[in-house]
Amino acid sequence: MSTVSTKTAICESHSKLILVGEHAVVYGKPAIAIPFPLKVKVMIQKVVGLIMIESPIYTGSIDGIPPKMEGIKACIEEALRCINQPFANLRIKVDSSIPLGRGLGSSAAIAIAITRSIFSLFGQKLSEEHLFSLVQIAETYAHGKPSGIDTATEISEHPIWFQKEKQIVPLVIRRPLYIVVADTGRNGDTHTAVDNVRKMYGSETVKVQNSLDEIARISELAREALLKGDIYLLGTLLYRNHEELKILGVSDDELNHLVEIARNAGALGAKLTGGGLGGCMLALGESLGHAKIIATQLMSSGASNVWYFSTEENSLYNPEK
Ligand code: PMV
Repeated sequence: MSTVSTKTAICESHSKLILVGEHAVVYGKPAIAIPFPLKVKVMIQKVVGLIMIESPIYTGSIDGIPPKMEGIKACIEEALRCINQPFANLRIKVDSSIPLGRGLGSSAAIAIAITRSIFSLFGQKLSEEHLFSLVQIAETYAHGKPSGIDTATEISEHPIWFQKEKQIVPLVIRRPLYIVVADTGRNGDTHTAVDNVRKMYGSETVKVQNSLDEIARISELAREALLKGDIYLLGTLLYRNHEELKILGVSDDELNHLVEIARNAGALGAKLTGGGLGGCMLALGESLGHAKIIATQLMSSGASNVWYFSTEENSLYNPEK
């Protein structure tokens, strides 16, 4: 969505959830991710002088941008260069409801909304492929060598089947999914988690390779389950995926605890989502009412925030805190 006048543009992006396949996706295995309706909204205005940024992380001139936003700066610079505009004369205001650093793709969502707004402000067309490559500039700063799954899911309005350097395939889900997302309240550390898996691959190659192959099988089966609308099979696969992520060393006590709480509340499946080592987990309910019950249990068992939603509609719910 975008609103344009000659001097202002407003664009949005949404968040994402990796349903199955994180980490293995870095090694070329397939993964499935879905849009998550937490949003970022960016307003850009033409002004005179240095680029000024107002965001949840930093407010001030782009020259003083903190290291964790260097990627955004590089992305803005390249976007402006592509449309022959000077690296100046903009005020960028970022409003985000996506918690930062929790495996929900906040960094890519901010870069997407900013890039869309820049092109919109100057009346320039922006293809999805071009948007993807510009946002990957920011993501490379944030993650080192990102697979691109965050960016691809946040550009898409549909669940996707993602494999590095292959065509992104939109997935049709036969039956709505009722998903609960719980935040541990601690920042995930995707960079460290990805590094740890790489180191472990070097020292325990067979073990890690087996796990990556198993996750790839889980993704294939999850795709079939989604196409058939078999939420029970999908749930079992989520639990299996979480076990593999534990073997890869990217889960932690709190994520495991929340997965067990979801299991005890009758969740069909549950796993960490995103890079891990903190961040968020997700669980699958049988209905929206069941998702609410799971969400309430997670909230009263240590989660710092919980949302639940149906993939059929765009609304997000919070259990009573
Ligand atoms: O940005 P996060 O925390 O959702 O992690 C992305 C998923 C990983 O597979 C862990 C990394 C990647 O680049 O795909």
